[in-house]
Amino acid sequence: MNHGRSVVVTGGGGAIGSACVRSLCQSGAKVSVVDIDFNRAKVLANEMVAAGFEAVPFQCNVASFDEAQRLIDDVYDRFGYIDGLVNNAGIMPHQDVSFATATMDDWREILDINLGGTVNLSRCALPHLKESVRRRALPSSIVNMSSFLVLLGARIPQDGYTASKGAIASLSRSMAVELGEDQIRVNTVAPGPIETPHVAKFFNTAEARAKRIERFPLGRFGRPEDVSEAISFLISDKSAWITGVLLPIDGGASCNYI
Ligand SMILES: NC(=O)c1ccc[n+]([C@@H]2O[C@H](COP(=O)([O-])OP(=O)(O)OC[C@H]3O[C@@H](n4cnc5c(N)ncnc54)[C@H](O)[C@@H]3O)[C@@H](O)[C@H]2O)c1
Repeated sequence: MNHGRSVVVTGGGGAIGSACVRSLCQSGAKVSVVDIDFNRAKVLANEMVAAGFEAVPFQCNVASFDEAQRLIDDVYDRFGYIDGLVNNAGIMPHQDVSFATATMDDWREILDINLGGTVNLSRCALPHLKESVRRRALPSSIVNMSSFLVLLGARIPQDGYTASKGAIASLSRSMAVELGEDQIRVNTVAPGPIETPHVAKFFNTAEARAKRIERFPLGRFGRPEDVSEAISFLISDKSAWITGVLLPIDGGASCNYI
């Protein structure tokens, strides 16, 4: 499905990011595994290479424009083209609670990484995404990472995080329109709670898990692969006429009234 594509995955060493790297590799892509934690990226890239896939680790703090530019230059030098970008890196800090109590420093950190990282990488990759369209005569593809929290309120608020993910969803639609004439597609995924160490901290008792699972028509938490397979499809030419979409991946939670 993604044979020959050169795809950059940020936060590639994390729970969902690792699944994205695996899904993209298995579908034939050459993957740049990007993380602020180089060791995580390296371990995963080594695992992919040992399994016969093409993956290269890179270190980058996506919140820094200069680091993003250096990263994209390095990826281009390594692969010679870039036609896919997954802006997955993100944080959900525990001190981020209600807007009424979170500090502006908390807000800044979240916005710099979640929203700023998405902007930095997209901006730096843009000339290469355009160049790939000229070469292949097929659309390039960006997938941005939002959250189902942009569709629903939550009793346990994470307002900075939710606002950052809402901004990403709106920005993505605008980018999809802006970049349509360049044949660059921009889509966004909005996952519900995925079984990751991050989320396990919130649902750490059987009772808390059961109460939450009741909300999901499909009766379980999500798995990283539920997200990564959708992302692999959105990166691929199988979704060649899909752009500007905000895709909930939440077991039906966002359409469940009670
Ligand atoms: N886990 C969920 O239930 C869930 C639900 C909806 C959306 N998301 C989003 O999915 C994405 C991945 O989440 P996850 O659960 O895999 O988290 P995770 O913490 O396992 O992975 C995030 C990765 O991003 C990296 N990272 C953090 N800051 C970075 C920076 N400044 N520059 C580069 N890399 C950085 C981390 O080192 C980590 O490897 C995030 O954007 C998150 O908001 C997660």
